[in-house]
Amino acid sequence: MEEILSVKNLKKYFTKGGFMRQKETVRAVDGVSLSIKKGQTLVLAGESGSGKTTMARLILGAVEPDSGEIIFDNTEINTDTSSLKKIRKECQMIHQDPYASIDPRMKVFDIVREPLDIHGIGRPSERREMVFDALRDVKINPDDVASKYPHMLSGGQRQRVVIARSIATKPKMVIADEPVSMLDVSVRVGVLELIKELQNKHGISFLYITHDLSTARYVGHFISILYLGKIVEVGNIGDVLLQPKHPYTQALMDSISEPNPNNLHSEKKIRINSPLDIDVYHGCRFRARCPYAIEKCKQEPSLEQVGNQRSVACFVEIN
Ligand SMILES: Nc1ncnc2c1ncn2[C@@H]1O[C@H](COP(=O)(O)OP(=O)(O)O)[C@@H](O)[C@H]1O
Ligand SMILES: [Mg+2]
Repeated sequence: MEEILSVKNLKKYFTKGGFMRQKETVRAVDGVSLSIKKGQTLVLAGESGSGKTTMARLILGAVEPDSGEIIFDNTEINTDTSSLKKIRKECQMIHQDPYASIDPRMKVFDIVREPLDIHGIGRPSERREMVFDALRDVKINPDDVASKYPHMLSGGQRQRVVIARSIATKPKMVIADEPVSMLDVSVRVGVLELIKELQNKHGISFLYITHDLSTARYVGHFISILYLGKIVEVGNIGDVLLQPKHPYTQALMDSISEPNPNNLHSEKKIRINSPLDIDVYHGCRFRARCPYAIEKCKQEPSLEQVGNQRSVACFVEIN
């Protein structure tokens, strides 16, 4: 199957501090490679601060990488304006916070129509119908909602409007950055089901970004686990979630495992230690918190293939 996106060895370091404070370099994205097959969803998972949003911004050309390569739909994305134009038109983004991407003073109709105007998609006379189609696609009745303002909608409806806006241009790919984390738990599954439905209907490829593995299994085909700017595990979503091999993936799974009612008094096993004060950029970055760390982990493990489409960056053979 052909790839819609292929990222190779992408790097982005930020320098923080300066005036009155010591300068500190954050290796936000440090040699990340990943790929997404056409019509599929890759989940990019990791805790806050692991570099997920920076990855999204790099792919969309919102920040320039220090090095590495981004190929979207057979086109290299770089500072060249035609490649930036292509990715901004054909790859849309859904933000965690609906208010980050919509103007609260605009009506729903104009919010969804705006990207069509910006990218000159459809004839102006056709755009009204395109907006209505996009709203119907996200299960919103255009006659009820098109002339409302965002604050008149529920959180779930507002995020549906954001999704309608992202698909109105008929993009090839959508990057969804924690699209349900600010929503009520009761409406999350509905939005995830909608994402799957839109994928089946329009063949859209997704990069689904999350810190919460419990939502990942609804939408994902493949998963890449990111820890402090490095991919530590990659594989089929079912394989990785059923049998996580990297200690960090295990810790992420522990944080969502359901409490066993027969077991209320025994302590929940969380396979993670409190961080030691070490230089995380030398050796395995996770070793400061890893319960299995050994002397060898002071060296940097590389991502090694361990099975069918499965790779792990860890020296310790666990489970
Ligand atoms: N523009 C920036 N300037 C300085 N540091 C940044 C900037 N953007 C992100 N960072 C840092 O890069 C790291 C990764 O951030 P981010 O990509 O937002 O992670 P995530 O989305 O996984 O929470 C964090 O340490 C963050 O503080
Ligand atoms: Mg983020």
